[in-house]
Amino acid sequence: MPLRFDLQNAHQFLPPVADLECARAAFLRLKEYEAAGEPLGWSTLPKDYDKEEFDRILKAAKRIRTSCDVFVVIGIGGSYLGARAAIEFLFGQNYNHRKDVPEVYFSGNSLDADAISDLLQYCKNKDVCINVISKSGTTTEPAVAFRIWRAFLEEKYGKEKARERIFVTTDKNPRPGTLKELSDREGYESFVVPGDVGGRYSVLTAVGLLPIAVAGGNITQMMQGASIARKEYAECVLENPCVQYALARKALYEGGKSIELFASFCTRLQYFGEWLKQLFGESEGKDGKGLFPASVIYSTDLHSMGQYVQEGQRIFFETFIDIEEPNVPIRIPHDASDVDGLNFLAGKELDEVNDKAEQGTIDAHVEGNVPVIKVALERADEESFGRLVYFFELSCALSGCLIGINPFNQPGVELYKRNMFCLLGKPGYTK
Ligand code: PA5
Repeated sequence: MPLRFDLQNAHQFLPPVADLECARAAFLRLKEYEAAGEPLGWSTLPKDYDKEEFDRILKAAKRIRTSCDVFVVIGIGGSYLGARAAIEFLFGQNYNHRKDVPEVYFSGNSLDADAISDLLQYCKNKDVCINVISKSGTTTEPAVAFRIWRAFLEEKYGKEKARERIFVTTDKNPRPGTLKELSDREGYESFVVPGDVGGRYSVLTAVGLLPIAVAGGNITQMMQGASIARKEYAECVLENPCVQYALARKALYEGGKSIELFASFCTRLQYFGEWLKQLFGESEGKDGKGLFPASVIYSTDLHSMGQYVQEGQRIFFETFIDIEEPNVPIRIPHDASDVDGLNFLAGKELDEVNDKAEQGTIDAHVEGNVPVIKVALERADEESFGRLVYFFELSCALSGCLIGINPFNQPGVELYKRNMFCLLGKPGYTK
């Protein structure tokens, strides 16, 4: 089922004549970036991905599923958010309650001692495999966590047996001092992050695919979904939802809306919101420009952020992401006493009530002068996830080109690292 895109009331903020010329220039700019060697591999990936490596991912996932209770994914930013977003999208926030697959935990996305020690403690009497993911192979947070997890596995299983439980996803060049060098030296099974795919665009490479497959996701269908989207969104025409969305974002931004609030009434989309924040935040936030991406999950956030959204500063617009069919419908039961006064809902599906909550919220926010955009999918399955990822990646790249920034670099992420290394006395780093 194709993704449905609807500008709702946001169309009022667009220029009277939709600016296809602008969109053409953005498509052209993407071609120029590609020719200049910027990492645009994500755009052809759904068709041109490495089939041999894909097969190896499937085989490794099968092996991992039968040899461990717990699979620990070590990575930060683009090296974990996509995998977690996909797993929650497919299996919900309680994905670790399923019995047929290993539990999946994420580590190395902070330097919080308690976060790692809690998980180490939990894993003491479990069989564990780990997947360390780092494109650069030098990021401190996952590198430190990997050192700790490696020591844990070597102590638990011995060096030889631990080796079979360690999977590495990184750049293919063994530059000195990188994860790839370490991996080759130790003989770990390793997977490649293609050089022409940036971290936040890498969920459909081994970065996302191995953890998703271990968690039981059908990665073949996921690639098919992305491949369908790639064909659907290839042309620069006004009917293309990526073009409509990117133009609307630009118009809203230029009209004084500086925040895009991604909203959903589906809790399984919480980490998709985190993934979106990284995709748009790192891609657009530079040169003093860019929409600030934020995310909310309703109804819960209607009871925290709802007041602000309704009546606070009018500096944002909302992009709702909707999944139309729940995987397992629930009917609200009848209660003879009706003490809670809810019998007017008896017999209705919970999803129908959720839909009304969403429509009521959208109507209220539109009345409160919040521009609203809606993206809807029929189901939370693998094909939909692939489509959704490609839709947002292309929209993000086009948006960056429309506001005149390079959406493929992230120079601002480096400064904190330099400061941290100076403070920790890393050789070669001084103030
Ligand atoms: O999008 C990006 O490139 C970054 O967010 C990276 O994913 C993040 O910094 C982790 O980098 P690496 O995979 O090199 O450890």
